[in-house]
Amino acid sequence: MPKLIVVNRAGEEREVEAAAGLSVMEAIRDNGFDELLALCGGCCSCATCHVHVDPAFADKLPAMSEDENDLLDSSDSRDATSRLSCQIPFTDALDGLKVTIAEED
Ligand code: FES
Repeated sequence: MPKLIVVNRAGEEREVEAAAGLSVMEAIRDNGFDELLALCGGCCSCATCHVHVDPAFADKLPAMSEDENDLLDSSDSRDATSRLSCQIPFTDALDGLKVTIAEED
């Protein structure tokens, strides 16, 4: 199973395993990070699954949709590494991906 490295809001880093085929949001949530609220359940309408993605993986991520882009605009902590984790399918190609849970808006 591919590995995902998650950094929580306290700056603590933990490596978790998650089945390919989940979204990155589901992989984070299923491993007990309750600070990632993911309120809409992954349908790209809440932005509470905001993460900062390691720039080394930027070219392996799917393109951002207009909806994701608009939702991220509502976040004060948006930067060039911001993505909505529910919009990133977790695949073997993303093994070792590091994401940091974004500040709460
Ligand atoms: S879980 Fe709501 S936008 Fe990702």
